Amino acid sequence: MKTIVCIGAGYVGGPTMAVIAKHCPEYRVEVVDVNAARIAAWQTDSLPIYEPGLLDVVKAVRGRNLFFYDDVEDRIDRADIIFVSVNTPTKGFGEGAGQAADLQYWERTARQIARCSTKAKIVVEKSTLPVRTAEALEAILHASENDVAFEVVSNPEFLAEGTAIRDLEEPDRVLIGARATPSGQAALEEIVKIYAHWVPRENIITTDVWSSELAKLTANAFLAQRISSVNAISALCERTGANVAHVSRAVGMDRRIGPKFLRAGVGFGGSCFRKDILNLAYLCEYHGLPEVAAYWRQVVELNEFQKRRFVRSMLGAMFNTLAGKRIAVFGFAFKPGTSDTRDSPAMAICELLIEEHAQLVVTDPRALDNAREDLKDAPDCAFTPDPYEAARGADAIALITGWPEYRELDYERIFRQMAKPAFLFDGWNELDHEALARIGFHVYRVGAPPLEPPPEST
Ligand SMILES: NC(=O)c1ccc[n+]([C@@H]2O[C@H](COP(=O)([O-])OP(=O)(O)OC[C@H]3O[C@@H](n4cnc5c(N)ncnc54)[C@H](O)[C@@H]3O)[C@@H](O)[C@H]2O)c1
Repeated sequence: MKTIVCIGAGYVGGPTMAVIAKHCPEYRVEVVDVNAARIAAWQTDSLPIYEPGLLDVVKAVRGRNLFFYDDVEDRIDRADIIFVSVNTPTKGFGEGAGQAADLQYWERTARQIARCSTKAKIVVEKSTLPVRTAEALEAILHASENDVAFEVVSNPEFLAEGTAIRDLEEPDRVLIGARATPSGQAALEEIVKIYAHWVPRENIITTDVWSSELAKLTANAFLAQRISSVNAISALCERTGANVAHVSRAVGMDRRIGPKFLRAGVGFGGSCFRKDILNLAYLCEYHGLPEVAAYWRQVVELNEFQKRRFVRSMLGAMFNTLAGKRIAVFGFAFKPGTSDTRDSPAMAICELLIEEHAQLVVTDPRALDNAREDLKDAPDCAFTPDPYEAARGADAIALITGWPEYRELDYERIFRQMAKPAFLFDGWNELDHEALARIGFHVYRVGAPPLEPPPEST
């Protein structure tokens, strides 16, 4: 029985290893992390992350061939294959601050593997990394005094939070990059063999290490770019009376473009898009390509503009003052289907609203604990899991995460309990705006003119 050890039990490590363990019963899969509380949670039915379908998969394989441990160093040498899925956030200090990837966790892991290994291993880059990181990893591993053979393979993860299990079960593609040497190709085949248990062979694509590393950054940059593109058009729609939903529909029906990721809103969030684009831009700059860097950086700048624009539109609609006004914030997760609030547009929007001295009541079906933590230093913030409670007495609702449950609420009841005039700002274009205006709301959409209530309602 071969042993896979995954270092990093986060949003990527946990779900990915659970699905590998499910499909590959002849492998022993161990997930390790320095965060002992996180490891303890993986051993219960209150998993440390929320992901639809994840608990079922974990329960089916935990204790069979999936195990969680916090003694990272003790586990390393048991592994034949090590997946590294530690976090690679944006660097917050020194050279490249605010742009480059912070590789300290990554390098610490590399040194641990070098120090603790006495037998040959394949080391798989699962984290998203700058191009040519594998070179640094090889340098650290090969400097090991233990004289161990290591082979470094790149296998970036393309899962999206909220659909992680589906994405892992039926990936559009699995990408594996390795050196062209015989040992590199043998390692590549070992990793192909794992995925071939459930992924059709034609969906497993192989390449060199550098192309594999760059493909992941590029995929995220393209996805984010589409969102910024449609958001840029949404701003023009609001000025001209066009409707961005209609524009997107017409544009997306062109088969060369396609309909996905063309929905205007408050902007993208999550731990990856912003970090990976800034990292890509930094790499371009480093390699003497400032024009290319500026092109990609603009995608992030537009995203910041979109969040500011949303708050400006609230301010403009509500008579240019939000001071002392109660605002129900519907949704704090960076998108529906996840409890993750990392780099959520909600955080930036709440900060801007707090600067205006608004009083916030935040509600979210899954991310309330994270919201509480993120806003723990903010004044005038209340939290409730109940959207009706959040909206009671509020001057406005700001819908920031498009949870489907918000479509099902009784808005007549909500309207009755709000201060008048009652405003609703739909940052996801999620709700039935005509119906809301008929109830009496002043409805503000992204990329379309506002809808006023009929004159007889108040
Ligand atoms: N979250 C996503 O949707 C997603 C998707 C694709 C790729 N990625 C990439 O995957 C990587 C991991 O992302 P994530 O969202 O799972 O991060 P995460 O923060 O949820 O998890 C990373 C884990 O690594 C652990 N860790 C850090 N240093 C360690 C060490 N030395 N030894 C043991 N454990 C250590 C941390 O305690 C943490 O639990 C990042 O590079 C990210 O860019 C993320």
